[in-house]
Amino acid sequence: MKALQYSRFGGLGEMRLDDRPVPKTGPVSVLIRVGAVSLNPVDVQLREGISQKYLDTVFPAVPGLDVAGVVVGLGADTPRFAVGDRVVAHAMRDRVSDGTLAEYVEVPTRFVSHLPDAVSLEDATTLPLAGQTALQSVRRAQLQPGSFALVLGASGAVGQFAVQLLASQGVTVVGTASAANQEFVRSLGAEPVLHEDALDARFASRFDAVFHFGGTLVAVSSVLAEDGTVVSISDRRALTEFGGHSVWLDPNASDLDELVQAVMERRLQTDIGAIYPFDQWRTAFDALEERRVRGKVVIRVADDLV
Ligand SMILES: NC(=O)c1ccc[n+]([C@@H]2O[C@H](COP(=O)([O-])OP(=O)(O)OC[C@H]3O[C@@H](n4cnc5c(N)ncnc54)[C@H](OP(=O)(O)O)[C@@H]3O)[C@@H](O)[C@H]2O)c1
Repeated sequence: MKALQYSRFGGLGEMRLDDRPVPKTGPVSVLIRVGAVSLNPVDVQLREGISQKYLDTVFPAVPGLDVAGVVVGLGADTPRFAVGDRVVAHAMRDRVSDGTLAEYVEVPTRFVSHLPDAVSLEDATTLPLAGQTALQSVRRAQLQPGSFALVLGASGAVGQFAVQLLASQGVTVVGTASAANQEFVRSLGAEPVLHEDALDARFASRFDAVFHFGGTLVAVSSVLAEDGTVVSISDRRALTEFGGHSVWLDPNASDLDELVQAVMERRLQTDIGAIYPFDQWRTAFDALEERRVRGKVVIRVADDLV
């Protein structure tokens, strides 16, 4: 099969589209023919080797963690699935090796959700990493309807799902974004402010939770209500300095099911910035790395599936 691969850590130039054996299916895994893959900042961080201290890489490594496609192979004990099922999954393992930017990927069934026909593979692939991280971050704060939340990085992939989930729970949200994304953040259900205005005096002691999904974690104590909490997905100081939560995605089919259902019922909107065919993977990664588009960058691996 064709797979995007890199054999040492580094920049975009380390990746090439090459041949690789189709993976075997483990006893509780399915083999997925890949339709669409959404890119995430961590794909770049892994390729650059920044994550080496907590994750081993086996070269040549295939990048990509999110996938939507069709089941073409079953393990010995995979009763939830049949060949031909449309599915979506997060394909993170204990080590970086067989990612999703390939024609086929093997994924443990505990990470795989079914996909109704009403949800496209391209929309679905935006959900696993960003959507589940947003859902689990929001849950961790345990906010009640009527609470106030500040979302730092509300226009990003994780931030925009979190804003929608919070607003749907009756939480009043203020979200930070750059000037170009202010109206977008408003459309998600939050009051938009510029990143640099997050600590404005009018927000003093206001927020029951501050979610850190973008930029550096600033000194948010002044805007936290008494008993307010801080949730971060990229800075452990949320835990060590603020006594809040440092969230690391714990992928599972149940949370992914919940997100797919919300998209199907139009309670949750996805945001795709650009879609590229597989052979334009370089332009796709460039768009992600240069942050040229808002919204997810998606690579369409198999035209006939999407
Ligand atoms: N712990 C985990 O399991 C986990 C899971 C997923 C992601 N992550 C990490 O979380 C981060 C966000 O991921 P993502 O996919 O949402 O990225 P993304 O789509 O690139 O979003 C980045 C966000 O940061 C905002 N931003 C830029 N400059 C900022 C500033 N000075 N202050 C505040 N916000 C600023 C951007 O807003 P504008 O574009 O409007 O300026 C945008 O909202 C990445 O570092 C990623 O690696 C961690």
